[in-house]
Amino acid sequence: MTLQRKVFWLRQATLVGLCLPAVELAWRWYGDELGPRPVTVATHSTGDWAVIFLLLSLAMTPARVLFDWMPLVHIRRRIGVAAALYALVHLLIYALDQKWNLLVVATEILKRFYLTIGFVALLALVALAVTSTDGWQKRLKRNWKRLHWLIYPAVFVGLIHFFIQSKLKIGEPAFAAGLFAWLMLWRALPSTLQRSFLGLGILTATATLCTVIFEAAWYGLVNGIDPGRILLANLDPELIFRPSHKVLVAALLVMAAVALRRLALAANRLWTKRYIQSTISAP
Ligand code: HEM
Repeated sequence: MTLQRKVFWLRQATLVGLCLPAVELAWRWYGDELGPRPVTVATHSTGDWAVIFLLLSLAMTPARVLFDWMPLVHIRRRIGVAAALYALVHLLIYALDQKWNLLVVATEILKRFYLTIGFVALLALVALAVTSTDGWQKRLKRNWKRLHWLIYPAVFVGLIHFFIQSKLKIGEPAFAAGLFAWLMLWRALPSTLQRSFLGLGILTATATLCTVIFEAAWYGLVNGIDPGRILLANLDPELIFRPSHKVLVAALLVMAAVALRRLALAANRLWTKRYIQSTISAP
């Protein structure tokens, strides 16, 4: 298959994958399968998918470098735009929950801190989605990069919104924050370490530690729980599968996938070399 064809199919498959959660949610809502509070389920689901797609869009650059696979560049934009759309639908469902009383929606956004920062993140995401086209890239020239750097604070603020609304159950936002730490720390690594297993090992340990710190800091600052208890809970084998453990497993899986990909590439190179040699030496 030519590279062009590969890119074409990758883009189509991505589009289908990005639409699936929305279609599934709409289908279950239409079939009355979302339980007694469908609007709440839909708010949570669209918020979750916005965060998942944001992290996935940030993962495209490291994935391209680590797996040495250029076509991934071509799907980053659509994943980012999908994240902004899911966040927008999330707000619309919230407005539906308020019976479309936009004055109430605006007042609540101004009154509740977690909604205010959610709104700020949403504004940034929509601005980035609108200006993500080639036309805007040409129009804004060097400022385009500066503007699109906003994605990092936007995801950060979106995650704070996720933390605050989760109240005491911060398992999911802590896991997402740990993955975000991995993605940001990878960008901070020197380019030689970005590709090496030493770099990935350091990243795995640091992102895991960051997740423990986020969890302990949140419980300590917001709920007044002794951070030492959280640190110990992360070492207790009976309390397995805390957010930091999930980040550790995810980071180790990345390392395993990179190792497999490099093995496959090396085998492919060796096979091609042997094939060329055998055809040249054939009478
Ligand atoms: C004006 C903008 C926004 C409004 C009004 C809003 C509103 C809400 C509300 C009402 C909830 C549920 C809170 C609860 O049940 O106690 C929620 C949860 C959530 N929101 Fe937002 N949000 C906004 C922006 C965003 C953005 C930009 C993101 C993503 C970056 C986001 C991600 C989430 C997530 C992940 C959850 C939690 C889902 C879960 O617990 O499964 N929100 N939001």
